[in-house]
Amino acid sequence: YPIFAQQGYENPREATGRIVCANCHLAKKPVNIEVPQSVLPDTVFEAVVQIPCDMQIKQVLANGKKGALNVGAVLILPEGFELAPPDRISPEIKEKIGNLYFQNYRPNQKDILVIGPVPGQKYSEIVFPILSPNPATNKEVHFLKYPIYVGGNRGRGQIYPDGSKSNNTVYNASTTGRVSKILRKEKGGYEITIDNASDGRQVVDIVPPGPELLISEGEFIKVDQPLTNNPNVGGFGQGDAEIVLQDPLRVQGLLLLLASVILAQIFLVLKKKQFEKVQLAEMNF
Ligand code: HEM
Repeated sequence: YPIFAQQGYENPREATGRIVCANCHLAKKPVNIEVPQSVLPDTVFEAVVQIPCDMQIKQVLANGKKGALNVGAVLILPEGFELAPPDRISPEIKEKIGNLYFQNYRPNQKDILVIGPVPGQKYSEIVFPILSPNPATNKEVHFLKYPIYVGGNRGRGQIYPDGSKSNNTVYNASTTGRVSKILRKEKGGYEITIDNASDGRQVVDIVPPGPELLISEGEFIKVDQPLTNNPNVGGFGQGDAEIVLQDPLRVQGLLLLLASVILAQIFLVLKKKQFEKVQLAEMNF
């Protein structure tokens, strides 16, 4: 959950560029982000994050039963950019956002937003309403090109914040030896007794409800060999985009320049026509 990242990491983007959700959501699946190529200052725009999520597919839940996938995302904006206040969001954008409730990653840090978990079937596309900063009032920001980073996830993670495994991952043998007993527990899950090959000691590996067993009693297995399949059908992905904070004066200047170039061209043609007339008049046959 994004809250696990908020509790465990000061900054969701590590120095290597990796987004921390990947530490617990081990499988990789694509995400996509779309933002305008450029925005004017103090303007609301949409950042659209797509987390493709197969509607048919089910995952194992914490109790071992099967259920639908949820999605979540973290959006790392350039400094000064923030979630648009509700009164600035147009009805069209409001409709696209739906009932989503975005949060700041840190209460005092407005340029990192998180969302989720929300149902993946409904929100495989999440629209973040963003307000661009104004360099006229905020001296920290400048008219530049900025990167935006996104991390998006569908499905449950493999590791809890305390380091323990969730039931949505593969379980491996902790020793080499023969599987002497497989006990199926009442509430699902297994206790697998392995007789260590070298010293004969018995080791019990516990598999929670969820993953399916790949081994059977009497089988000889090696240390770290998977005892179960990997039930994880979700995955995490990250991506980035670039956005230009555009100075309106620059756009106006460019338009002015283009207009003057066109005018100059027209006048040159007119001058040529005038000169041709003079040439004609001067000709004697
Ligand atoms: C569950 C997203 C960071 C561990 C989830 C779910 C979402 C999500 C959407 C629900 C999945 C579902 O129900 O189908 C994210 C995002 C993260 C993030 C966007 C980064 C901003 C982390 C971190 C950890 C973690 C850092 C580990 C410390 C888990 C676990 C679950 C889970 C163990 C399953 C919980 C359960 O059902 O018992 N996450 N997560 N996540 N996440 Fe994350």
